[in-house]
Amino acid sequence: MNSISLKNIRYKYPLTDHYALDGVSFDFEEGKFYGIIGPNGSGKSTICNLMKGLIPSFYLGDLEGTVEVQGKPVDEWEPEKLCTKVGYIFQNPFTQISGIRDTVFEEIAIGLENLGIDKEQMIQKAEEITKRIGIYDLIEKNPNELSGGQRQRVAFASILAMDTDIYVIDEPTSQLDPDGTESVFKIIRSLKEQKKTVILVEHKIELMAKYADEIIVLKDGKIIKSGPAREVLSDYDLVNKKVAVPQTVLFGHEMERAGKSLGKLPITIDEAEVCVRERMRGEQL
Ligand SMILES: Nc1ncnc2c1ncn2[C@@H]1O[C@H](COP(=O)(O)OP(=O)(O)O)[C@@H](O)[C@H]1O
Ligand SMILES: [Mg+2]
Repeated sequence: MNSISLKNIRYKYPLTDHYALDGVSFDFEEGKFYGIIGPNGSGKSTICNLMKGLIPSFYLGDLEGTVEVQGKPVDEWEPEKLCTKVGYIFQNPFTQISGIRDTVFEEIAIGLENLGIDKEQMIQKAEEITKRIGIYDLIEKNPNELSGGQRQRVAFASILAMDTDIYVIDEPTSQLDPDGTESVFKIIRSLKEQKKTVILVEHKIELMAKYADEIIVLKDGKIIKSGPAREVLSDYDLVNKKVAVPQTVLFGHEMERAGKSLGKLPITIDEAEVCVRERMRGEQL
């Protein structure tokens, strides 16, 4: 069964005259890690809002087509039930924090409370997750007094605590430094190892190349390319379409232009290193 299916989606936000999504169909398979990339305004967050059932119920506007979560149209899910299937991390950590809880612990526990989990288990879970995310020392702090990066981690922790099958994550590292970013990617990878479906919107393309199974490229509300990460990201044509590709792809392309082809366009530093070594070995022969 697919985790999420988008079928012929066309959508306009209220009071706008252009389609934020314009003919989008895609099946997200269970247990895969999908990266969604594309320029600003291409519709990435709109796709996330759809998957969480916030379109059209919250954002209103004109929606055509259907979104199915685990085979059932999203509008047929009860919101409380959908929350136990799809965990959603918003683009802006300041909107994710409820603002009504006094401590990070309570913030993380909100969702668990709704699941009817008993207090002992709730404490245990919150401790385990905050340790995993590296925010255990913040557990007694007031969420409203945290920095953007800390809030982003708290938002992440509260969603992880829910242990959903599907995670829809919109730019979770925008407020984090490189170490924090890499640690979030490692957590996301561990979700994949637990057979969760991960749908991640992220600008940090080198990390997408390293971790994602599949990449979807959005532009002007349309999917212009999708497929295995290596295949999509090594497509130099994306550069002409103003879509960011890994630096190593640009490097490989320059090498090719200089008549020193690496055999392929490497999408990660590790791949580039192998290509360069092989080329050097070839030159020595
Ligand atoms: N709440 C909104 N009301 C009206 N238009 C919106 C709203 N949110 C996004 N849009 C428009 O929808 C399009 C897609 O936006 P979005 O999904 O946020 O793109 P991305 O996340 O790729 O930057 C853009 O043209 C944007 O201006
Ligand atoms: Mg966005």
